[in-house]
Amino acid sequence: MNRLQLKQATNAVRRKENKIISVLSGKGGVGKSVIVNNLADVLTHLGKRVLIIDADVNFGNQHILANLSVDYGFRQFATGQLSLKESSIEISKNISLIASVNSISLFDEIDIPTIAECMNRIRREATEYDVVLIDHSSGVNKHASVMAYASDMVLTVLVPELTSISDSYGLFKYLHDINPQLECRFLVNRAAQSDEAEYIYSKLCAVAERFVESVPKYFGFLSESDDFRKAVASQQTISESNPNSSAFKELNVLAHKLLGSARTSFTNNSFKRINKTTAVADIKG
Ligand SMILES: Nc1ncnc2c1ncn2[C@@H]1O[C@H](COP(=O)(O)OP(=O)(O)OP(=O)(O)O)[C@@H](O)[C@H]1O
Ligand SMILES: [Mg+2]
Repeated sequence: MNRLQLKQATNAVRRKENKIISVLSGKGGVGKSVIVNNLADVLTHLGKRVLIIDADVNFGNQHILANLSVDYGFRQFATGQLSLKESSIEISKNISLIASVNSISLFDEIDIPTIAECMNRIRREATEYDVVLIDHSSGVNKHASVMAYASDMVLTVLVPELTSISDSYGLFKYLHDINPQLECRFLVNRAAQSDEAEYIYSKLCAVAERFVESVPKYFGFLSESDDFRKAVASQQTISESNPNSSAFKELNVLAHKLLGSARTSFTNNSFKRINKTTAVADIKG
């Protein structure tokens, strides 16, 4: 699929009534689903209504995180069998979920115009929600890139590991090649502290500047915290399992950024460490 085909497929999709955010990653297991689950929760604390769409057709687990048993959702919505309202289920006050169950071959069954129309329908039918969070599988495929392209923002999650930085660069390059205007921001998860997150981001920038000639935008970070493991194990959100945790405070910062009420700033000195001549193989240097 070239850029023109993708643009045609998603033509007229982008309007601004609600904020649609696609959460992606290059590498798997970096925390996308748990972040979506908790960001949705924190956003409701800020008075917002949130729709989570689990577009991880292979191994969707938003319903597991929400401790729900459900046998319909994204497949029925994407194929047009059910409306957005009919395919979603309320998981808590002000959060609804379109779950991904029995969807493994879904992206083999529906074509690009269908997934583009699916995004149009989300715009039209999700007007009661302030924010729509789409949880994707790791890596990238044509269907996910159409969904990303039709979103207002792509949030890419990475962790402080060489392979994660490298895969994030690959994902950024892929998305940037399709649409250089795409609002793509990076969230460093499992950081030892904010300095490390900014350092990892600076490494990503160094590679991107050299090969894509564009600087990826920083979104923020979450620290490595046992609170995530405990919350997942008990199928709770961080606000339920440990509302006084720093994880909850950091999630609040991210939720405010997402709503645009806090500027995404990048002030740390580590930015100076960007080495414009760094090549992919030198990322760990
Ligand atoms: N900041 C963190 N600190 C500690 N553990 C974390 C943190 N973020 C996520 N985790 C842990 O990482 C595990 C994997 O997270 P998750 O399933 O959300 O990743 P994912 O990116 O959605 O994976 P996949 O690519 O398979 O969909 C979770 O069980 C969670 O406990
Ligand atoms: Mg996941």
